[in-house]
Amino acid sequence: MKSIAFLPGDGVGPEVSASAMAVLRKVTERFGIEFAVSSHPIGGAAIDATGEPLPAATLEACLAADAVFLGAVGGPRWDGAFQRPEHGLLALRKAMGVYANIRPLRIFPGLMMASPLRPELVAGVDLVIFRELTGGIYFGAKQEESGFARDECPYHADEIARIAHRAFAGARGRRGRVASVDKANVMATGRLWRRVVSAIHAAHYPDILLEHILVDAMAMHLVRRPADFDVILTENMFGDILSDEASAIAGSIGLAPSASLGDRAGGLFEPVHGSAPDIAGQDKANPIGAILSLAMLLEDGLGLPEPAARIVDAVSQTLADGARTVDLGGNWGCRRMSEAILARI
Ligand code: IPM
Ligand code: MG
Repeated sequence: MKSIAFLPGDGVGPEVSASAMAVLRKVTERFGIEFAVSSHPIGGAAIDATGEPLPAATLEACLAADAVFLGAVGGPRWDGAFQRPEHGLLALRKAMGVYANIRPLRIFPGLMMASPLRPELVAGVDLVIFRELTGGIYFGAKQEESGFARDECPYHADEIARIAHRAFAGARGRRGRVASVDKANVMATGRLWRRVVSAIHAAHYPDILLEHILVDAMAMHLVRRPADFDVILTENMFGDILSDEASAIAGSIGLAPSASLGDRAGGLFEPVHGSAPDIAGQDKANPIGAILSLAMLLEDGLGLPEPAARIVDAVSQTLADGARTVDLGGNWGCRRMSEAILARI
């Protein structure tokens, strides 16, 4: 029996995790697949319970599980904490070795009008961001004094190479195009990034169309011509920023799922959105990002494409039937949206 560790976390994390767990129970009911599910504290919730954002017991459970689902971490309540809730998530990504963060962007039928972009720009958008997740400025040395602060951005060629391989391989199963995003005009890591990606392309993926784009230009192209992109390959922080921008094009960050994979089977699966403390505990969150992350967990983490496809179809159908949470301009709550999706699985 496959085991799944659930880490609900903070803010709306527990609400959207409950939706994902309900979907998992439905998968058991419909497909006869049993899962061993456990739940563990992370982030602010873990700081409150144990004093640490990633308690040893949580990490142990995640490393032992076949796949890990995470809701969200963080919130203003822990701003002054000795260790921030986000540290728990970063330490977990590092310890699990999940260097490839995959963030697909799909446009659901009927949601074209929820996008801030004109419908003719949104039509045909179908892209996926491959974000390097365990290196760069997130993990470099930091210095924090009263009048001075510094964040280092280190990258080794092999850290760039392994995410590049993932992105090129991903493009082979899609439209065969990779846009590699860096800041090579200013950053040394950007120049290394560009050299490594070019070398891997030339040696292994000549069939893929590769272009290099500076991150500032990419931020602009994403809103001017998003349908032109297939696979976007980028480093940790640029991927964080561009994936929020990209998710808005689909109508709401509340819809966006992600998979974080390493060289071992399994992985870490989490919605792209954060803990949204302003709406936490009010049944206002959109559970779709979490539910689609669970679908990615089943397909990419556990090798179960059939239930995953059924979940995606159910979400698509629910949206096509007009269901709208607050972020999509409607008034449906998290629970009502979840139940509508469950009924269609
Ligand atoms: C994300 C989030 C995280 C990140 C935060 C919560 C640390 O913004 O997954 O995109 O910056 O990676
Ligand atoms: Mg982010």
